[in-house]
This record gives sequence, structure tokens and C-alpha cells, in this order.
Amino acid sequence: MRWIFGYGSLIWRPDFHYNQRRRAALHGWQRRFWQASPDHRGIPEAPGRVVTLVEEASAACWGVAFEPAADELPAILARLDVREQNGYEARVVELQFDDGSSDLALTYIAPPHNPSFVGPAPVAEMAAQIGRAIGPSGPNREYLIALAATLAELEIHDEEVEQLHAALRALEG
Ligand code: SIN
Repeated sequence: MRWIFGYGSLIWRPDFHYNQRRRAALHGWQRRFWQASPDHRGIPEAPGRVVTLVEEASAACWGVAFEPAADELPAILARLDVREQNGYEARVVELQFDDGSSDLALTYIAPPHNPSFVGPAPVAEMAAQIGRAIGPSGPNREYLIALAATLAELEIHDEEVEQLHAALRALEG
């Protein structure tokens, strides 16, 4: 396995060294703020919301594929297993790159059967929850703002992220 695929905090804060990073798409999956965060971007009494991937045949999730040095990969994966521990599972997926080529990658997905999977809610409600929640890793709003900014830099359009970002800005005046 050469690649680690990030679609959430990994794209703006990978926290590991890599030789290269490339935009990549995961077909059949959609990024969604449907995972509660009682440990990083919230607390158990007031959890935040973070992204996971949900299956949707006609969708594609664009994100970033990182290629770490091969000899560093085991240590990086061991650290990521700890970082992504609240409901996320490591999965091998097939990525498509901008040039049409494809390759396998490891990614972390929090599936619908995990206890922190909360599913959809109206945009205004999700934005208000994100605006309020603060956890050991910092305010939930920072996560959304950093994700929206990084996706914009990478010229990746994501309707849900953009709607949530606009709703948060409107809430905060
Ligand atoms: C990812 O970034 O790829 C996983 C979800 C997250 O940690 O935000």
C-alpha cells in the first residue's frame, strides 16, 4: 500500500511526513458531517460533528492521497489508528487520480453501525451544533473552517461543507 487517503482533518492536518500528495477521488462515497465527536471536537455531553464517508453509488468524494516513505508507513498507521479511534475503521479503497490512473489506498471510515454515527440533520441545526461544540482538540468550528478553506484551495467543491460553512458564518454574523 503506497497511499493514505484523507478527506477530513487529514487533508489539512496530516501530522506525518510524506513524499508527495495528490488530489484523488473515491467513487461511490460521499463526505458527510454525520459522525459525532465526543472526544476531539466536543465532549460527551455536547459532542461536535466531524466527517465520515457514506456509500452513495452516484457520488464521488474528492480528497488528498498522501504517499509517505515506505519505511515510515507502519509507524504512521499505528499513530492514525489511535487518532481515528472513535468509530473509524481502516479500509482499503481504490482511488482515481486527476490523470485517470488509479491505485489502492488506506482510509479511515466511520460506518453507520458505530455508536457515534448520528446521520443527517438540517443544515442550520448541524451548523449550530458545530458552532457551539468545543473539545480537547479545539473548537468544532475550526475543523469546519479549516476543511472548507482547504477544499477551496484544492478546488474541490463539496455542497454540504459549503452550506455548513455559509450557515456558520451567518450564525456568527
Ligand atoms: C480523514 O480525515 O480522512 C478522516 C476523518 C477525520 O479525521 O476528520
